[in-house]
Amino acid sequence: MAETGTLHDAFLDELRDTYDAERQLTKALPKLAKAASSPDLREAFENHLEETQGQIQRLELVFKSLDEKVSGKHCDGIAGIIEEGKSIMEEDFDETTMDACLIAAGQRAEHYEMAAYGTLVAWATAMGHTEAASLLQETLDEEKAADEKLSELAEGGINQGAADGFESEEEGQEPVAVAAGAKKPTSKAKSARR
Ligand SMILES: [Fe+2]
Repeated sequence: MAETGTLHDAFLDELRDTYDAERQLTKALPKLAKAASSPDLREAFENHLEETQGQIQRLELVFKSLDEKVSGKHCDGIAGIIEEGKSIMEEDFDETTMDACLIAAGQRAEHYEMAAYGTLVAWATAMGHTEAASLLQETLDEEKAADEKLSELAEGGINQGAADGFESEEEGQEPVAVAAGAKKPTSKAKSARR
């Protein structure tokens, strides 16, 4: 097989993949927002949906700056992450635990995008596509900020709320069960209580 592909071809391929990923996310983010109980979390997903629409337009500018036609190529990676998020939403969790899980799902998507944009910025810079590099950097910064916002919400109460819910459910039950010796806790049960 003749080896004719260049970094520029790989770059265009990544751009098309990322363009498709963003479009998939515009459909997934409203579902995350709808499933969120915390108003702050819902707002974070809604704000990121708006940002994502801007990121799609920004990618169109990147294609234009390279004199390439705008096109997408199915992104299997984000499709898998979205699919996992959907299965989580079907679980029967209490509200705060569900919020913690929605944050986890959202952060998986953000990190995937951060990896993609990080590569795109580095490649655009290496090839001297300065306009593309600065547009892509803007989006990378937005993705990082969105990820930090989700961490703030998780660490600012949602994770603890979910953990406290677990403790109050367990309260008073565990010592009795262990003392009775009816059933030795499995290693899985032990680690879950840590
Ligand atoms: Fe994005």
